[in-house]
Amino acid sequence: MTPAAYVKLDLQAAQHNLAQVRRYAPDNKVMAVIKANAYGHGMLRIAQALDHADGFAVARVDEGIRLRQAGFTQPILVLQGFVCSEELQLLLQYQLEAVIHNFAQLAILQQQAPHNSKLKVWLKMDTGMNRLGFKAEEFQLAYQQLSACEQVSQPVNLITHFANADDLLDDKTRQQVDLFNQSIIGYPGQRSIANSAGIIGWPNISSDWVRPGLMLYGCSPFAGKTGADFGLQPVMSLHSRLIAVKTVKAGETVGYGGSWQASVPTLLGVVSIGYGDGYHRQTRSGAPVLVNGRRVSLIGRVSMDMITVDLNSQPDARIDDPVTLWGEGLAVEEIAQYADTIPYTLLCGITQRVQIVEQNQG
Ligand SMILES: Cc1ncc(COP(=O)(O)O)c(C=O)c1O
Repeated sequence: MTPAAYVKLDLQAAQHNLAQVRRYAPDNKVMAVIKANAYGHGMLRIAQALDHADGFAVARVDEGIRLRQAGFTQPILVLQGFVCSEELQLLLQYQLEAVIHNFAQLAILQQQAPHNSKLKVWLKMDTGMNRLGFKAEEFQLAYQQLSACEQVSQPVNLITHFANADDLLDDKTRQQVDLFNQSIIGYPGQRSIANSAGIIGWPNISSDWVRPGLMLYGCSPFAGKTGADFGLQPVMSLHSRLIAVKTVKAGETVGYGGSWQASVPTLLGVVSIGYGDGYHRQTRSGAPVLVNGRRVSLIGRVSMDMITVDLNSQPDARIDDPVTLWGEGLAVEEIAQYADTIPYTLLCGITQRVQIVEQNQG
């Protein structure tokens, strides 16, 4: 018996996508971004599948610790660094690398790091994202302080992050790269710049490490495109099944709020999936759903445990027939558009009650 709602994870697809990253960025090492439970795919599982990546990046210290405790020995960069000396201690204890993005961290390092410690650091420049990092005018001072800090492993590595690389017409990305490169002339550390959109869309960026996230999971970082357009394969597929099939008369409404009204007699399928599983509540009527591998349309509002679909094109559909919400044969990028969101949120949003089925562990 298959579970009511389940996610199938194609781990060979993740390995294929890593190989694609290497094709896009042949001169770079790859730091696989597996924060946020590997974008909803399961951090340890993805780390295992991608254990031939050159390193991993996570957002928070506790994510790095979990990787170390599970036995991963690769370099692990904590993208948010630390906020207190306790976190700094944990970074040192678990041999995690830290992004340094403000002077408060520098003060903790200088005043509270044990004398014999050697933290591996990545100094972050804020080149226009205006989130984390030192502005260009502060960067040299921060660099000098880190270079002089005995508790820091030398040389200091250098990192920045794109704000808008998914817009190929926006010159901001080029300006960010130029500002970064001009500011680090002569610095010997390793450099890391590009996320997925940078890797695919801005191929001439010179650096030492790329930091792909979304593309490893098979998705396009560019609106209106799918991962397949860039030779990527979806890792996650979300599945369920029909639990009821019935007809409604013309003029009847379907679901909460009666937001969808039948204009003709309609064969209606009820699918056991809802926002309680991570199928986005904002998804509009008309969104594609695969029933028996063929496209039908979502109709009416998404409820917690169920959605309804128009089966007029499939008069033979039966209770227990298989349904795919995204993944195999139906790009999550397309569903994201119908939900006025981005694929990141759909992948990250799968809830605990959805069972995970792994396939193709290569
Ligand atoms: C600093 C940093 N680098 C790399 C990434 C990976 O980005 P993407 O998933 O778009 O490839 C992220 C993700 O948010 C990030 O915050």
